[in-house]
Amino acid sequence: MNEKIQAGRPAYPNLVQQLAELKARKPGSWRIAVLERVLADLDFAAYDALQRRFLDDSAIHRERKFLDLPYWLKSKMDIAERFGLHEAPPQRVLDIGGGNGLFAVVLRSLGHEVVITDTAVNPMYEALVALHGLDRERLIVQAMTPVALGRGRFDLVTALMTVFNKRPHQWKEPEWGFFLRDVATNLLRPDGRLLLKLSLKNQEAGFRPWLEGLGAEVAEKQSFVYFADTARLRDGLG
Ligand SMILES: C[S@@+](CC[C@H](N)C(=O)[O-])C[C@H]1O[C@@H](n2cnc3c(N)ncnc32)[C@H](O)[C@@H]1O
Repeated sequence: MNEKIQAGRPAYPNLVQQLAELKARKPGSWRIAVLERVLADLDFAAYDALQRRFLDDSAIHRERKFLDLPYWLKSKMDIAERFGLHEAPPQRVLDIGGGNGLFAVVLRSLGHEVVITDTAVNPMYEALVALHGLDRERLIVQAMTPVALGRGRFDLVTALMTVFNKRPHQWKEPEWGFFLRDVATNLLRPDGRLLLKLSLKNQEAGFRPWLEGLGAEVAEKQSFVYFADTARLRDGLG
């Protein structure tokens, strides 16, 4: 496990320390308000209990790294900043496969409206999303099947550290083409944007150029695939 991710470290004192360091280093940072909001809103006694409950649960050993609240909050704030969400006017955001919900927590504290979806089969994610009081819909993404959500259209759709494209089988261009077209056509507003955090490591050689031909900006090292202009997606896949 990445040594920076320590699932068992206590959330409250670590967040307080993160905030104090940030205030000293960057007193004008937008992140201060996010951390203060989390410190004010979250029931940390319940969070500790949840952490104790799931740390020893062998059924979720792969996912327990997502219990590290300070680490993932910082990671999701980094993403928000990279894509300008820290200074954008209020957006309607759909986060597909939202996991522990912390991207939504960050966006919500920035004034965005966020719907997250997940499979609702992992009790740790279920408990975390409930604790954060997020607007969550059960939705399992499947290859060559529309994402039938019924929650209107969004300014931004995100799917970060995706898994649906790896299991039960590795998606290739046909599956991705179907998904991208569906999201661009049925879930996004005409000027909506789409952000994936997706490893290109196991993809075929032509996959990256194919994405770029559809208008994606690809940052392979950080696994970002970003469509700032989804009209190009609709045209390219139409
Ligand atoms: C590695 S976690 C990433 C969570 C979150 N997006 C993040 O960046 O922290 C993958 C997420 O995808 C969800 N997931 C797995 N299979 C899925 C599927 N078929 N459809 C939708 N979500 C799925 C998991 O439940 C989990 O929340």
